Parts: sequence; C-alpha cells; structure tokens
Amino acid sequence: MSAFQTLVWRNQALVLLDQTRLPGEVVYLECRQVETAAQAIEELVVRGAPAIGVAAAYGVVLGALEALEQERTLFRRHLQETVARLARTRPTAVNLFWALKQMEEVIAAGDGLDNRQLSDCLLAKAKAIHAEDEAICRRLGQHGAELLRDGFKILTHCNAGSLATAGYGTALGLIYAAQAQGKRIEVFADETRPLLQGSRLTAWELQQQGVAVTVICDNMAAVVMRQAPIDCVIVGADRIAANGDVANKIGTYGVAVLARAHQIPFYVAAPISTLDLSLAQGAQIPIEERRPEEVSQGFGRTTAPAGVGIYNPAFDVTPSELVTAIISEQGIARPPFAAALSQWGGRGSAG
Ligand code: MRU
Repeated sequence: MSAFQTLVWRNQALVLLDQTRLPGEVVYLECRQVETAAQAIEELVVRGAPAIGVAAAYGVVLGALEALEQERTLFRRHLQETVARLARTRPTAVNLFWALKQMEEVIAAGDGLDNRQLSDCLLAKAKAIHAEDEAICRRLGQHGAELLRDGFKILTHCNAGSLATAGYGTALGLIYAAQAQGKRIEVFADETRPLLQGSRLTAWELQQQGVAVTVICDNMAAVVMRQAPIDCVIVGADRIAANGDVANKIGTYGVAVLARAHQIPFYVAAPISTLDLSLAQGAQIPIEERRPEEVSQGFGRTTAPAGVGIYNPAFDVTPSELVTAIISEQGIARPPFAAALSQWGGRGSAG
C-alpha cells in the first residue's frame, strides 16, 4: 500500500527508513551490526511500538550473523548478549519484549541445531513476525473502520501509522480502511512535542496516502475539538495494562481529558502484542525518560535557557475511564476492559 517501506530485510541487513530525517529527506539506514540496530531504536530512526518489535526481531538475526563462525557456546552467548542489548533500548513499548521473547523461544527450541541452522530459524521467525504485523493491522483497521462514518473529522496524536508498524498502521490503519470503504475522512494531527512525530511523520504519511490532513500545535487541540468539531480521537498505544490503562506518547492523556470534556469518543487502536496482562494497572508501566536536550535544544535551536530544569518523559498513561473503546485485531472492546482484554489473551505479556 505504502510508497515507502518502514523497514525491510535485504541482503543480510536490516534496512530502516530513517524517521529522524523525515519529512525533509527520504533516506534509509542499513544495519549490519546489532549495535547499529540498537542505536537506531534508541535514536528513533525506527519507532512506534510494533515497528520497534519487528526491528528488534531482525536485530537478533544480526546477532546470529555476527557470531556465525564462532564456536557453539560463544555463538549462543552472543545471542543472549544481543537480546539483552536490544532489551535495553526502550523500556515502554511492550512489543519490543514480546518480539524478543519469541526470538528467545526459537533459540531455546533450537538446542540441537548448528549455528547456521539456528540463524536460518531466527530469520524465518523475524520474517513471520514482520508479515504477521501487517496482517494484524489490516484486520484491526477493518474492525475499527466500523466506528468511522463518511465525513468524520478525526484528531490523532503522535504517529501510529505505516511508519510505526510493519506497514499499515494501527490508529491510522482505521483511517486507511475507512478511506478504502469510500468514506471521506479528515484528520487533525497534533504536532506532538518535543519530537514532532505528528507533524513530521503522521502528516507526511497521510499526505502520501491522499488523506486530508491539517497539522495543529498540541495546545490547539481543545479549540479544534470545539470548532471543527472533532467526531472522535484515535491514538495508538505502547503498552496496555490489564485494566485498560493505556501508555502512549506524552500528551495522549491530556488529549483524552479534553475529549471527555467535549464528549468526544476516545479510541485506542493496538494489536494484542501491545497488551501486558502481567501489569494490573497503568501506574506499573515503565515510562521512558529521554534526554533533556530534546526539549531545551529542539531540532538544534536553543528552546530553553541553559541551566533550567527539564522534564522529558516520552510517554504518559491514560486511565481506562477516559477510553471509549480499544480496537485490536480481535475486535472492539468497551469498558470495563478487564474481561475483554483477558479474553484476547495477553500475547504481549512481557512476562
Ligand atoms: O516515541 P515513539 O515515536 O516510538 O512513540 C510512538 C507512540 O507513542 C505511538 O503512538 C505508539 O507506539 C503506537 S504505534 C502503532
């Protein structure tokens, strides 16, 4: 569907569309080393919960290729170190740990295999996770599109589209599915400070797909909800606790509060790999804190005086009371969420 590829495995390398350079430049980064892939995840060359999971799975394959000629024990130790390195990249998106756990299961099941055979099995698994993610997003989009009517004006935050997944999107997947059904949809994209995933990435990919999009600064959301008016908010998620509390990009919680104040439905679209049923509630979700320079030196400009305190959490938690529905590849869950989420199975449990 997309004119671009978020990530692809080519010639024994993980090739990533460098999202730090969008929308100005469309350039790809080739990762042949685990360390290159790990830093690409840390620096948001690849970002978005499902895409991080797929990239990490391929990262384990890079680890296997790096140590292919080593003696068996050293090879397997290198695989363990690779998984540990990738697990340290970003703490909030549970899809990362979900994907790494699947790769570890392949390693454990391949006890009798030689290095080359195990490496081939790991690549097959990473490719399966990659292909499955796109299929899951398409199913999720079909379910969620039922909620959207012709002429809807939708507000979204951050980027939960093709760029954040293997290629279709979660929140934006609903919009693509609705558009494919002939519904006209208009999107308002919060710019999403401090790293501007909304204005740089969401606006860019919606424009590529021919969806009408208007970028707004984060502090305009309330007035746009009233004036447009907005018919619903749709966001993605990095981790969803057993009670339906949702961790997503910083600012999502504020948008949910505003949506409630304006009586606008607030929808969360996420694959089951984003559920973490091992956590009873959102307060237990680890929240990544990023470098202060992302706020004080925004895109190379001095945007705060030297020496002031800076707080830069990358995510926040929206309490389930503010969530109208959660859409996954299994269907649409409405509050109270615990029973439906538990039935969906919690395949994303970091456990
Ligand atoms: O820091 P990022 O850009 O990785 O944050 C991404 C988000 O918060 C997305 O909304 C979330 O991962 C869902 S992606 C389908």
